[in-house]
Amino acid sequence: MPRKVIIDCDPGQDDAVALFLAMASPGELDILGVTTVAGNVPLALTQRNARMMCDIAGRRDMRVFAGCERPLRRDPITAEYIHGATGIDGVDVFEPETPLQEQHAVDFIVDTLRNEVSVTLIPTGPMTNFAAAIEREPSILESVEQIVSMGGAMREGGNRSPSAEFNILADPHAAEIVYDCGRPVTAMGLDVTHRVLSTRERVARIRELGNDVAMATAGMLSFFHRYDTKKYGSEGAPLHDPCTVAWLLEPGLFETRRCNVSVETESELTIGHTAVDFWHVTDRPHNVDWAYTVDADGFYDLLVERVARFGD
Ligand code: RIB
Ligand code: CA
Repeated sequence: MPRKVIIDCDPGQDDAVALFLAMASPGELDILGVTTVAGNVPLALTQRNARMMCDIAGRRDMRVFAGCERPLRRDPITAEYIHGATGIDGVDVFEPETPLQEQHAVDFIVDTLRNEVSVTLIPTGPMTNFAAAIEREPSILESVEQIVSMGGAMREGGNRSPSAEFNILADPHAAEIVYDCGRPVTAMGLDVTHRVLSTRERVARIRELGNDVAMATAGMLSFFHRYDTKKYGSEGAPLHDPCTVAWLLEPGLFETRRCNVSVETESELTIGHTAVDFWHVTDRPHNVDWAYTVDADGFYDLLVERVARFGD
């Protein structure tokens, strides 16, 4: 029986690949809806980009919703310097046929969780939408089976500030609400996403598949990695967001440890920092399964196998 999921994203090339990976896996994942949030680029672009990916994947039936256009409390931050002005540079932008649903994403999340049970939430951007839904109606948490998020960092340090990863820095208050919501949370932080690098060889494997999704993916990854390669001297950009979907499809690709993850929400110096009590040196409640290793080759084997399905 496929797992019912809601994907909340801010495309972003890596969000786009996470959407492709999920849409390639109908046997395992029943996508109830895709909700979008301001993050890498403003909401007007993240919602358009998500709908573009549904067109490219042949899923114009997908329900896509626009959500919060700013974080719960902080001013918005964006990341055009990584993702380009469109948010998905590397693929030609077009006006998608997949419609934007009229309902606000937060209303969709609340309504869906009122009427469904055992829904998995997959946030791959700032967690504003899910946090707003939980704040509005905490009882919806009874219908949340688990949350698999991309965000945070432990050993890797920050990627947007010296001590904070972008998704958590963008909305630390939302992250705190989600991490402390009481439902099972699995967190894919930079400690694993910085190990799944979209090297030229891996991008070439995807491009050789030749279908529309493969070509879009290869184009976006070829653009996406230029910044990270220069910044980290690495051989390709970290493919952050698909780690969430990959964990749901093949959890054995990762190792996780249950521990406390707390979010700094006050200090201007370290706001958005995820304090991961990996060695259990405090008595803080173990609220998160923190991912700390990943089989990168196995991750890309999975991605290539699933993207190939769009050519069938
Ligand atoms: O720090 C990486 C995260 O921030 C990814 O989700 C990327 O898409 C951006 O949202
Ligand atoms: Ca993202």
